Amino acid sequence: MNYYIITGTSRGLGNAIVKGLLNPDNYIFCISRTRNEELIKLASRKKVGIEYITFDLLDVHKIKDIMERIFLSINKNSINSITLINNAGILSPIKPIELCSSEEIDRNIRINLTAPMILTSSFISNTVDINSERRIINISSGAGKKPYYGWSNYCTSKSGIDFFTQCVAVEQLSKKNPVKIISFAPGIIDTDMQAEIRKSKKECFEDVERFISFKTEGKLLQPDVVADYVIKLSKIDINSGDILDIKQFQ
Ligand SMILES: NC(=O)c1ccc[n+]([C@@H]2O[C@H](COP(=O)([O-])OP(=O)(O)OC[C@H]3O[C@@H](n4cnc5c(N)ncnc54)[C@H](OP(=O)(O)O)[C@@H]3O)[C@@H](O)[C@H]2O)c1
Repeated sequence: MNYYIITGTSRGLGNAIVKGLLNPDNYIFCISRTRNEELIKLASRKKVGIEYITFDLLDVHKIKDIMERIFLSINKNSINSITLINNAGILSPIKPIELCSSEEIDRNIRINLTAPMILTSSFISNTVDINSERRIINISSGAGKKPYYGWSNYCTSKSGIDFFTQCVAVEQLSKKNPVKIISFAPGIIDTDMQAEIRKSKKECFEDVERFISFKTEGKLLQPDVVADYVIKLSKIDINSGDILDIKQFQ
């Protein structure tokens, strides 16, 4: 069985990744605050194992317990491969840093960076005795490589996840069965996150008009198209520590 643990599966890219993985060779653990009933029904119709964990990743101190619960339910002898996809993310707050409250800054960094770091830590410790393929795909962003006015929290968190990916890859190099870990910037996708960007005030996000034109000119990628690339990355040979961008594959 190929096991997947995926965050942010209630909509957008995460929802599309799970849809693309719905075949009986896969068993999927989904994590988000909202339960995705459509996915659960679809999985049951296709006879695919799915477990939906409704959980707020802001509660970072409970993540290790959630992961232990997941691993208790997996028969380790049945694992052909196991993959963690850290996909859940938020963009807000969208405004210059001096206007951001401490709660807003903390929220962004906890969901986008602390939570994937703890999930990674837990994934590695819970699979240390597994000889099968172990993989982590961190969904990053081009905004982790290029600064945008008004996105300091988001850019910093995504830049952090890129560097974290490289550090973990270095740590895993000397291990018996190293976990392969990569970071993937998925391009500009037609999801709720883009709708939120288009609603920004120009004084909060200077590039808002350019992002509105991405939508009107039909330049946004569809979530299922991007999901296919993520799924491919969970299967093909990869160099651990690589910081990848969808543009390299198009
Ligand atoms: N859309 C783009 O153009 C774009 C570009 C570059 C990178 N990305 C990255 O791609 C990933 C997916 O983005 P998307 O566009 O699909 O976003 P989206 O449509 O806004 O979906 C975000 C997902 O994250 C989950 N999430 C948010 N806060 C959470 C929390 N506190 N606890 C648990 N889950 C939480 C949401 O579920 P609930 O609300 O139900 O909890 C939802 O399933 C993100 O990491 C994003 O940074 C997106």
